[in-house]
Amino acid sequence: MSSTERPATVSSLLGSISDVGRDAARGGYSRPVYSTAELDLRSWFRDEAQRRGLEVRTDRNGVLWAWWGPEAEDSLVTGSHLDSVPGGGAFDGPLGVAAALAAVDVLKARGVTAGQGRRSLAVTVFPEEEGSRFGIACLGSRLLTGAIDADKARNLKDAEGNSYAELSARNGVDPRGLGADPEALSRIGQFVELHVEQGRGLIDADPISGGAAGTGFPVAVGGAILGHGRWKFSISGQGNHAGTTLMADRADPLVAAAQIILAAQKTAAARDGARATVGRILPIPGGTNVIASKVELWLDVRHPDDAVTAAIVQKIHGQAQIAAANEGCTVSLAEESLSPTVGFDVGLQRRLQALLPGAPVLDTGAGHDAGILASVVPSGMLFIRNPTGISHSPQEQVEEADADYAATALADVLEGLL
Ligand code: GLV
Ligand code: MN
Ligand code: MN
Repeated sequence: MSSTERPATVSSLLGSISDVGRDAARGGYSRPVYSTAELDLRSWFRDEAQRRGLEVRTDRNGVLWAWWGPEAEDSLVTGSHLDSVPGGGAFDGPLGVAAALAAVDVLKARGVTAGQGRRSLAVTVFPEEEGSRFGIACLGSRLLTGAIDADKARNLKDAEGNSYAELSARNGVDPRGLGADPEALSRIGQFVELHVEQGRGLIDADPISGGAAGTGFPVAVGGAILGHGRWKFSISGQGNHAGTTLMADRADPLVAAAQIILAAQKTAAARDGARATVGRILPIPGGTNVIASKVELWLDVRHPDDAVTAAIVQKIHGQAQIAAANEGCTVSLAEESLSPTVGFDVGLQRRLQALLPGAPVLDTGAGHDAGILASVVPSGMLFIRNPTGISHSPQEQVEEADADYAATALADVLEGLL
C-alpha cells in the first residue's frame, strides 16, 4: 500500500476472493491444499503482501512467509490458512490471513513500522491445515515443528493416489526438504492466529445482544484447544450381488459400519465433554446394486482429557469388532493423527487480554496451527464472533462490521507486541 492508498478492509479483501473455489455441488467452498483454488489464493496472498512491500518466500515445508522487516530471530508472526474442508465456509482460514494483511495497513496508517526499531513482523499461510486432502490436519505446522515424521508425510496419499511428496514437488517445494525446520522456528518469537469462532462461545457469552454486530464482544482470546485425533477403520466383507445374495448369506461391511457410527455416537454421548464424529465413509466399490467388499470409515474423537479420548476410541473399537464378527466381516483400526489438549501460553494470553480489554477467554474444540506451534513457541489465538455458531459449513458467518473490526483488534495486538 502506498501512503496515499486507503487501508483495505477485511471484508473487501475477502470479497476479492469470494468466487475462488466455490463448490456448486456441496455449497460453500472446497479449497483443498494445492488445488487450483488454493493455489489461486496463494497467488492472491503473494500479490497482496507484495503490494504492501512485504518480502514473500516459501519455506521448505510449503509455508508462505511475508516479511515486514528483515527475516530475524524472535519476530512476531501472525497468519492462518487458505485451504478448506469440502463445502466449507468463507472465513475458516481466510479471515485470519485477510485480517493480517489489513492489520498491516492499519499499522502503516498509524505510523507503526515493523523491523525499524521494532521486531520484524511476518504473515504466514500454512498448507493443509484441514487435512481434507491428505488426512492429517495442520500438516504444514506439524512438519515445521517436527510433530510428524517427514517420511510419513511424504508418503501420505490423496484420494487420486498422489503422494504429498509428488504434490509438493509439482508446486515448487522439494520434498527432500520437508521436515523439522529449527531455523524457521527460531524466527517465531510469538505466534498469534486470528480465526473465526467455530462455535457459540461468544454469542452465548452475550445473551442480551445475541451476537449482533456493534454490541457485546466481537472478539475472544484463545485459552485452550481440545485434544483430538483421527482414526481409520477398514472393514472387509464379501462383495456380492444385491439381487441374488440372500440376507442370511451376506458379509456386508456397510452393515458393520452403520453399527460403528452408532457406537461412536452412543459412546461419546455418555461422556461429559466428548465429541465423536464419522464424517467420511467410503464403500468400495460403491454401487447401488452392489454389496460392498470393503468400507473405509474415518472417526474424529475429541475430549479435554487425552486418557478419556483413548478410552472412547478403545470402546468403539471393541464394539466394531463385535459388529464386524456378527456380520461375518473383519475390521482393523489405524490411528492417523493425535493432538493432545493444549493450553496457550499464559503470559501471551494475559498480554492479549490486556490489549483487548473486555475480551473473554474461550477454549475451542477446533484444531489450529497455533495449537501445533504452541508446543514449541509462545502462541495465542483471537476468535471473531460467528453469529450462526456454525462452522465447516456454508452457514459459517461473520458480520461485515466484525470482520473489519478483526483488523483493528489484530493491529492493536500486533502493535502492543512488536
Ligand atoms: C479443524 O478445523 C479441525 O478442528 O478439525
Ligand atoms: Mn481453520
Ligand atoms: Mn477448519
